[in-house]
Amino acid sequence: MADIYIVGLGVLNVDHLTRETERVIGRSNEVLYVDTGVATRTYLERLCPRATSLFETSYEEAGARLNAYGHMAARVIDAALDHAPVTFAMHGHPIVGVYAPFLIRDMAGLLSLKVQVLPGISAMDCLFAELMVDPCIGGMQMYEASDLLLRRRPLQPDVPALIWQVGCVETCLHTMRVSRTERYERLRSHLLRFYPPRHQAAAVFSAPHPLMPSTVHHFAIQEICNHAQLLHSGFTLFIPPAGERPIVDHELLKGMSSVDHLRSITR
Ligand SMILES: C[S@@+](CC[C@H](N)C(=O)[O-])C[C@H]1O[C@@H](n2cnc3c(N)ncnc32)[C@H](O)[C@@H]1O
Repeated sequence: MADIYIVGLGVLNVDHLTRETERVIGRSNEVLYVDTGVATRTYLERLCPRATSLFETSYEEAGARLNAYGHMAARVIDAALDHAPVTFAMHGHPIVGVYAPFLIRDMAGLLSLKVQVLPGISAMDCLFAELMVDPCIGGMQMYEASDLLLRRRPLQPDVPALIWQVGCVETCLHTMRVSRTERYERLRSHLLRFYPPRHQAAAVFSAPHPLMPSTVHHFAIQEICNHAQLLHSGFTLFIPPAGERPIVDHELLKGMSSVDHLRSITR
């Protein structure tokens, strides 16, 4: 049994909670959560009477997101030292795009507290379903939007691309403010190094509630700046491949449907 469970709440409000996650929350003396979904508190309280939202105390306008993660981690560790086991629950998959679980793991290690991480449904899973994208077909490259620009990471235009935090690009500070068109100029220039200007991308905000539809904005890459005010911090950008990479290993291609080859690679 762990002292701290780190779990994901999924994207579609409480409907994405797994039974495994519900079980550990039910076993916990407190669930500390970061999620602003309308039904989250009520639902979590049914599983564990002590449900504490960390969103309001963690984030402040123009405050560093890193400080917010430090605050969450400290609160979770305090709770675990006082009344373990506790659960730390957050939006989506708990290890995707959130630093707090890594801080918790490191602090817990120093204090001999046992941590267990459970998977959750991430925004990427929802996007695959929404756009019917199969990452096994042509692969998938994914980057965080600001990191893409900071390192000027090269993109392979023949591989589908998923860009996280496109609505938060160019800052590590938290804000609820609406973006100006200028915010996307650097990203547009970078993308145009690899894609034709009229190549269509999709910005996706998967439904956070069963009564709300998902929002998908389709636009040409050269037009991304015109969509600045729509792209809030919940959007992910998906760029389909702009071409196909030709097969190079024709010998392997032939072998893949040959029984002789199958025998040669199996016992
Ligand atoms: C801090 S990361 C958290 C990701 C989350 N842990 C997950 O597993 O999906 C926030 C980013 O996740 C993506 N995201 C979160 N919710 C989303 C949604 N409902 N639809 C599309 N993307 C979403 C966006 O790229 C957003 O900027």
